[in-house]
Amino acid sequence: MKIAMIFGTRPEAIKMAPLYKKLKEENMEVKVIATAQHREMLDQVLNLFEIKPDYDLNIMTKNQTLPQLTSKLVTEIDKILKIEPFDYILVQGDTTSTFVGSLAAFYNKIFVGHVEAGLRTNDIYNPFPEEMNRRLTGTIAKHHFASTQKAKDNLLKEGVEEKNIIVTGNTVIDALLWVKENKNKDIEKIKEKYNIKNKKFILVTMHRRENWGKPIENVMKAIKRYLHENEEMHIVFPVHLNPIVRESVYKILGNEEKAILIDPVEYLEFIALMDESHYIMTDSGGIQEEAPTLGKPTLVLRETTERPEAIEAGTAKLIGTQEEQVYQAMKELETEKYAQMSKASNPFGDGKASQRIVEFLKKRYYS
Ligand code: UD1
Ligand code: UDP
Repeated sequence: MKIAMIFGTRPEAIKMAPLYKKLKEENMEVKVIATAQHREMLDQVLNLFEIKPDYDLNIMTKNQTLPQLTSKLVTEIDKILKIEPFDYILVQGDTTSTFVGSLAAFYNKIFVGHVEAGLRTNDIYNPFPEEMNRRLTGTIAKHHFASTQKAKDNLLKEGVEEKNIIVTGNTVIDALLWVKENKNKDIEKIKEKYNIKNKKFILVTMHRRENWGKPIENVMKAIKRYLHENEEMHIVFPVHLNPIVRESVYKILGNEEKAILIDPVEYLEFIALMDESHYIMTDSGGIQEEAPTLGKPTLVLRETTERPEAIEAGTAKLIGTQEEQVYQAMKELETEKYAQMSKASNPFGDGKASQRIVEFLKKRYYS
């Protein structure tokens, strides 16, 4: 069986890397079609995991719109699927590359396996466009690799046949554990590089489309107020390369001495930053999955989450994007709440998700 993995953004690459390595280890025939919906942020991950794409569509343009991205992607992926016949396509998550990769596979009548299937908020505009991307991908996919039982339940409710849903855990935990095991010394060096060993800091990221403009600015104002009132606290914020996000962040925090604004960092460096942080504030999906493993309290800067497992485990709290609410949530972490939220837990996986996916594919296609 000839497999193609289609992905193009930073989080997809992080979550596909361990699966790619596992497929290779098992001598399965697999090629990578990198859409490069992201460029620099994708390349950082490909370099770390030493993955060289077989095809690179180099699709990213500055300030790309969703319709531009969608139309270019479907045409370019289709060309490749016409040149090289694949039997099976693997896509991951809920980006435009994920959805369009599965659509192009459908047009070519190729089976799709969806990694991280079944996440739902049940609000099609939240997160936007990801909730729709993953639902559409789920409609096309033959096999659904769900991270948790909750994700499986969502798919069953939508009428997906149980035999095609496989609960595997999330491959992000495989990636995280791989890096911690194989690159441990580097992580220590990074902590020295950023001189963060003696600083008390909150790690912040924010990039979602539904948060563009006012919501991001509200959060930045809350952070600014908090930093002014708390002498010892800093923030470290690797700011997404999206110019719309950067404008809002720099406008409010650009001149704040204790707000350390940096460009996106390599995955390895980011793990070191998470590990060393006091806690995390984010609207990212992947970071909500990683933080509980590291026992880091996480304030989720969103109105909804498709990852209730971290909230139920008590390590994450959904706080929205209103200035006062965000500020109060930060204050609350000065209390005993901090210790309660710092317990390490692993609701999203045990580091063996890739192995389970590979075992399933082998059994289905080679036995
Ligand atoms: C995309 C995904 C989102 C995911 C996020 C992870 C879609 C619609 N959105 O959002 O689900 O959470 O990636 O980060 O698929 N840029 C660069 N260099 C890069 C990456 C981005 O300059 O390496 C800038 C470009 O100006 C680009 C813009 O960011 O046009 C937006 O990139 P895009 O992939 O469209 O959306 P994201 O907001 O990154
Ligand atoms: N990440 C990284 N460098 C950074 C910020 C985040 O490597 O500067 C990693 C993070 O550990 C997680 C992933 O990128 O694995 C999350 O990506 P992002 O927040 O862009 O996307 P989402 O998960 O929200 O789709």
